[in-house]
Amino acid sequence: MREDRNCQWRVARRPRGNVVRDDFEYAETPIPEPGAGEFLLKAYYLNLAPVMRMYMSGEAVAGERPLSIGDVIHGRGVAEVVESNHPDFRVGEFVHGQTGWQTYKVSSGTAQEKFRKVPDVGLPYSIALSALGMTGFSAYFGFVDCGRPRPDDVVVISGAAGGVGTFVVQIAKAMGCRVVGIAGGPAKCALIRELGCDVAIDYKAEDLAKAVPAACPDGVDLYFDNVGGDTLSIVLENLAMHSRIVLCGSISEYLLDEPYGLTNYTRLRRTNSTMQGFFIYNHIDDFDRAETDMCRWLASGEVRPVEHVFDGFDALPEALASLYAGTNTGMALVRVRRGPHDQGDQP
Ligand SMILES: NC(=O)c1ccc[n+]([C@@H]2O[C@H](COP(=O)([O-])OP(=O)(O)OC[C@H]3O[C@@H](n4cnc5c(N)ncnc54)[C@H](OP(=O)(O)O)[C@@H]3O)[C@@H](O)[C@H]2O)c1
Repeated sequence: MREDRNCQWRVARRPRGNVVRDDFEYAETPIPEPGAGEFLLKAYYLNLAPVMRMYMSGEAVAGERPLSIGDVIHGRGVAEVVESNHPDFRVGEFVHGQTGWQTYKVSSGTAQEKFRKVPDVGLPYSIALSALGMTGFSAYFGFVDCGRPRPDDVVVISGAAGGVGTFVVQIAKAMGCRVVGIAGGPAKCALIRELGCDVAIDYKAEDLAKAVPAACPDGVDLYFDNVGGDTLSIVLENLAMHSRIVLCGSISEYLLDEPYGLTNYTRLRRTNSTMQGFFIYNHIDDFDRAETDMCRWLASGEVRPVEHVFDGFDALPEALASLYAGTNTGMALVRVRRGPHDQGDQP
């Protein structure tokens, strides 16, 4: 990465299977200059999310423009305002929003880019991508608003050691639920127990069709689904009365050529249960509430961020591949350069 250039990662070709290095093109352009009503941003942290592979595939994902070959890849970042001709964005302020996979960006602060100021809570500003950004907010709106948890609910969370999952585990515990997490491998299971899971199921070593009913003998009251596929199908066989399923994501299906084809959704009927999807951008007008509650949980220690930091702009392709390979733990992000409160070494 060169400091005197705008470095970018662009779509080189449509991915097949997990992303590989040749799917990405590295490019350098002059640092852009802000015009009237615009400001220049310098990136510090960039987030990773499974949806980015869909962007690269040219899919029309709600909220973002479909990408063509050669386009800079969509992505959210934490960035400093380094030049400004805009009354609402002052030099020295940090914001988070749609920066794309690049080290500089000129913006006019459109609603589409969804820039918000980074709240200083004494933590590295990557917090605005994790607990106080789309990942933490997805956990919040998916679990609290769609899941409607009650104390003592038996809650099952798949992808529990991932970005969204680690927050859902902690919020569920803070709200008095009995928490069953599903994750891949002993290290991830140890982590989610530490975060508050009463039971951790290693789906790579255990038979989920037996482990889920064993962990939830009276059925599942609330299932937070990050993975879809067979896991969703097995939970549907183990519902309590009036249970709620929250469709957050279905990462086990994203690389399939054909749709998964869920066949037992009618299990919802006999238990008067509901299955509800949500999309985080549809909750944008309510982000202040999520930020307030997440700040309170961070301050009380009930929620802590679990961030998997990849160092350096060059690491972006490898970091995106880690999501589908399952090698990230917690929220995957790339640190382009150290920012405020960020003095420590990589975890
Ligand atoms: N609805 C929304 O608005 C919204 C917003 C944000 C995210 N999402 C969705 O929420 C989910 C979680 O997102 P995230 O950003 O926090 O990513 P993440 O959970 O950190 O995603 C990576 C993890 O997914 C698991 N995984 C990968 N392939 C899998 C497979 N075939 N079967 C089961 N698990 C697999 C791996 O964990 P293991 O090692 O445990 O397998 C991996 O570490 C994703 O499905 C994402 O698309 C939805």
